[in-house]
Amino acid sequence: MSGPLVVLVGPMGVGKSTVGELLAARLGTTYRDTDADVVAEAGKPIAEIFYDEGEDHFRALERRAVAAAVTGHTGVLSLGGGAVLDGTTRELLAGRPVVYLSMDVEEAVRRVGLGAARPLLAVNPRRQWRELMDARRHLYEEVARAVVATDDRTPEEVAQAIIDAL
Ligand code: S3P
Repeated sequence: MSGPLVVLVGPMGVGKSTVGELLAARLGTTYRDTDADVVAEAGKPIAEIFYDEGEDHFRALERRAVAAAVTGHTGVLSLGGGAVLDGTTRELLAGRPVVYLSMDVEEAVRRVGLGAARPLLAVNPRRQWRELMDARRHLYEEVARAVVATDDRTPEEVAQAIIDAL
């Protein structure tokens, strides 16, 4: 099956972009991020897509961006934190080298905080984070070939753990 060497999934703020870029450099390949693809396609930041057109519209753009990248990109690929909510996306990921980067709630709140660029966490980050993870944890686990915990690891250590896991 051609496609990405590694697909990173996991919640926002877990370090998919930082680790993905590092990993791509170490593997001598390119890095791609479906959030960036959506922003390029829409011509505006993700927070503005949410506020102007709503989450459903964002998810439709995301589904298209993920399908294009999973079938067309051969390097390291990161998916937006909510991409796994989509059943078609989960089917597309079956059999691919998907790694779930995990972190616990307190670590998430510390890393992501109240960032306005992350509209899903704008009101009560700790409670919203719990709800988000309760709804998604099993979806990340369903699509993943390996789980790598990031809590006590540097990005370099996470990149190495991914290489070891695959
Ligand atoms: C989202 C995660 C974000 C971005 C959007 C929605 C989510 O991506 O796609 O804000 O639903 O968890 P990152 O995980 O890259 O921050």
